[in-house]
Amino acid sequence: MSSADRIKAPRGTFDVLGEQSAARAVLEERARAILEGAGYERIETPAFEATELFARGVGDSTDIVRKEMYTFADASGRSLTLRPEGTAPVCRAYVEHGMHKLRQPVRLWYLSSFFRHERAQAGRYRQFWQVGAEALGSEDPAVDAESICLLAALLDELNVAPVRLRLSSLGSLAARNEYREQLQAHLRAHAEGLSAEVRERIELNPLRAFDSEHPGTRAVMERAPRLLDFLDAEDAEHFAEVRARLDGAGVAYEIDPTLVRGLDYYTRTVFEFTSEQLGAQSGVGGGGRYDGLVEQLGGAPTPGIGWAAGIERILLAGSAPHPAPVPVDLFVAYELAHEGDSPARRHAPAGAFALLTEARAAGLTAQMELAGRSLKGQLGYANALEARYVAILGAGETVLKDMLGGGQQTVAADAVVHAVLRGLRSL
Ligand code: HAM
Repeated sequence: MSSADRIKAPRGTFDVLGEQSAARAVLEERARAILEGAGYERIETPAFEATELFARGVGDSTDIVRKEMYTFADASGRSLTLRPEGTAPVCRAYVEHGMHKLRQPVRLWYLSSFFRHERAQAGRYRQFWQVGAEALGSEDPAVDAESICLLAALLDELNVAPVRLRLSSLGSLAARNEYREQLQAHLRAHAEGLSAEVRERIELNPLRAFDSEHPGTRAVMERAPRLLDFLDAEDAEHFAEVRARLDGAGVAYEIDPTLVRGLDYYTRTVFEFTSEQLGAQSGVGGGGRYDGLVEQLGGAPTPGIGWAAGIERILLAGSAPHPAPVPVDLFVAYELAHEGDSPARRHAPAGAFALLTEARAAGLTAQMELAGRSLKGQLGYANALEARYVAILGAGETVLKDMLGGGQQTVAADAVVHAVLRGLRSL
């Protein structure tokens, strides 16, 4: 077969290898420490869900539902979709498992992969990972502020810099509907200045006009009415309290009345962290309140707030500290019985495998030679692994080398593990 016949990973997907997977392990460990320390419990939901969940939850008029979902019919003809985001699935699980009976708020976090058929580029993939946190069952502005502070803490811990935090409030659905009409009237009155795409979406999704880069559209939007001016007294009070909590916590933010997020379920607080480091795909993480979502999915009226941050973007914009490598206590090497054999035919002697399993059973981390290297090559490999001890199995005896102290001793085969344990304990 020629190299043209090789099968590659699909566009917009990637393999996680070596250092990348080590950096992800650190990120996961930090996220767990921060979120579980704040009372969040881990949740895993299925990779695919009924399509209806996202159509109803995320919203029919959003780009995600209209253009970006991986939707397929299974063998029984049911329409399923690879999850494009995690909030609707978490709310579905909350309703399905009767979590309203638990102590509120119920706080859940996840780290999983998500799927969106987007134009692939640096920082934008078709399968990507998010770490997310959702708090259901409390309307207290302190929950909003706490949620934002937790994401700020995570980004800080992973050295994501420089970050900006944009904050706004979308108010209640009623206020938003009234605002929507006013915005549509403004857009219709200035339709000639708008991009064709925005003009086509005046009826369906007028708020997205704020995201446009088109110069004419931007000029029209500068004079557009602002949603923040439409908040009713309770929503304005809630927003003021969130801001006061953030001020108290020393978290810097900018009020951005043009902040619209690409999902329909938001009410009241919305926020987004961006990093200059990321170029065009500058959103590191974002979220907001979704006080109507649980009810929309068939549950009792339940407020909720949360966020999600892209793992790839965090790693691109930050520098996760490297994890300490797992130490190798013992490397099992052996003298070759037949030097002349090709490496593929030089199989390890049974005694080497027996020693490996004995060492692991005793709680040591151990590896052995598996590629038929010369003894010199084996010692070089053990050195690269930074193995603490190397046992070299010979015809009649076993030599145990202390790679740190530099000494070596001849020991009986059944005394090797004991000698290593004694050596490690004396450190
Ligand atoms: P989102 O803004 O769509 O929100 O996604 C959150 C984060 O996921 C983004 O800020 C970005 O870092 C990352 N992300 C999104 N799409 C891609 C992609 N194609 N490639 C790489 N990274 C991507 C949500 O998903 C909401 N569920 C957040 C939320 C939770 N709101 C309330 N609770």
